[in-house]
Amino acid sequence: EKERTLGIIKPDGLSENAANFYAEHSSKPFFTNLIKYMTSGPVLVMILEKEDAVIHWRELIGPTDAGKAKITHPQSLRAMCGVDIEKNCVHGSDSHQSAQREIAFFFKEAPSAFKTEAV
Ligand code: CMP
Repeated sequence: EKERTLGIIKPDGLSENAANFYAEHSSKPFFTNLIKYMTSGPVLVMILEKEDAVIHWRELIGPTDAGKAKITHPQSLRAMCGVDIEKNCVHGSDSHQSAQREIAFFFKEAPSAFKTEAV
């Protein structure tokens, strides 16, 4: 018989994850602030699937700098919900390779996470 248990990822657990996820930016001057921002509240992580999903999602979210996006790409998600180059409200993988690495980071067994159980 199945049982349930309860686990909590505490704040320090989340900040370690964020630092690993953004490891490629670890030497950048904005890194510390980026980790603070990314662990300041809950995030919603999703796998989006369609033909050429990487480029299409990047087009939909708009430029990294949400402040500039408000002028150059007013219909983009970052223009609508972001604030500036740091607080840009959404993330999108920058390439097919990044997408594979980033999906594996959050969804260790991606396909089974979506399997529905027979009742
Ligand atoms: P994202 O595209 O998810 O990946 C790196 C993140 O670092 C970026 O979104 C921003 O949130 C942040 N970022 C990128 N460049 C800068 C910058 N110059 N100053 C502050 N934050 C930045």
